[in-house]
Amino acid sequence: MPITVEPITENFAAEIGDLDLSKPVSAEDLADVRAAFATYAVVVIGGQELTDEAQMAFASHFGPLETTVFSVRKGEKLRLHRNMADVSNLDPEGKVWSAESRQRLYQLGNRLWHTDSSFKRLPAYASMLYAKSIAPIGGHTEFADLRAAYDALPEETKRRVVGKTVLHSIMTSRAKLGFSDWSPEELEAFRPVPQVLCRTLPDSGRTSLYLASHAGDIVGMDKAEAVALLEELTRHATQRQFVYTHRWRVGDLVIWDNRCTMHRGTAFDDVRWRRDVRRATVSDVAPTCEQNGIAVAAE
Ligand code: OGA
Ligand code: MN
Repeated sequence: MPITVEPITENFAAEIGDLDLSKPVSAEDLADVRAAFATYAVVVIGGQELTDEAQMAFASHFGPLETTVFSVRKGEKLRLHRNMADVSNLDPEGKVWSAESRQRLYQLGNRLWHTDSSFKRLPAYASMLYAKSIAPIGGHTEFADLRAAYDALPEETKRRVVGKTVLHSIMTSRAKLGFSDWSPEELEAFRPVPQVLCRTLPDSGRTSLYLASHAGDIVGMDKAEAVALLEELTRHATQRQFVYTHRWRVGDLVIWDNRCTMHRGTAFDDVRWRRDVRRATVSDVAPTCEQNGIAVAAE
């Protein structure tokens, strides 16, 4: 039986049915999921019972998996496999974190609008987040459609963003939270990287903004002007008409296209409820500047 694809919104989010990811996926089903994913940048596959291995195996069909940023820090204990990002509120022993933990302050960065791994030279293509347990209140994930946001820009603004290069660093987003507790390895690994501000996607042919809380500077522009433009674009792109809010159910696997969306987590009582959500992340095929034919000076 082929999978079903039900739009949740007209052209941004859809839900896929008749698919069991605990079993090997057929080539036909995979092609149908990928086609839906090119049209809808957010795809929900509900009712799944997934081991981390099954989640990583499914994600691998989309490309090579990223390694979690938490592995950069020497001696950091990981709860999950290195290819899984632990987005939960649990410590390495599986207990709910304490209010003052470093991990908590760091993860609060997920409450700022962002796209995954734009602070890496080779950023993320698809993120696949699976809910093993959820909070009874709050803890939703909001997604903004940066293709629709680009389409709605005035022509004059489109001309301002085309061809611009932006510097992204995870230290930029964490500095917004007052976080600066970096190890020497992190300071080295998290140096700013260049990304295009606007990109055309090869599979759908659509043009998208490429924005994140990690973005801090625009090459060749005054800092103040760059910050003001990034802020203006982010406000524009996250207006309600471009946003889908996912209210989690246990067993949901949500897949989003980091090349053309931003997302953020919403608040919940994170020192009370267990929210065990785990992400497998697929790398993009090449750095964004390279994909868009923009030469970047070697460091
Ligand atoms: C992520 C993320 C937000 C959330 O998994 O990359 O930002 O709601 N998640 O957990
Ligand atoms: Mn994220």
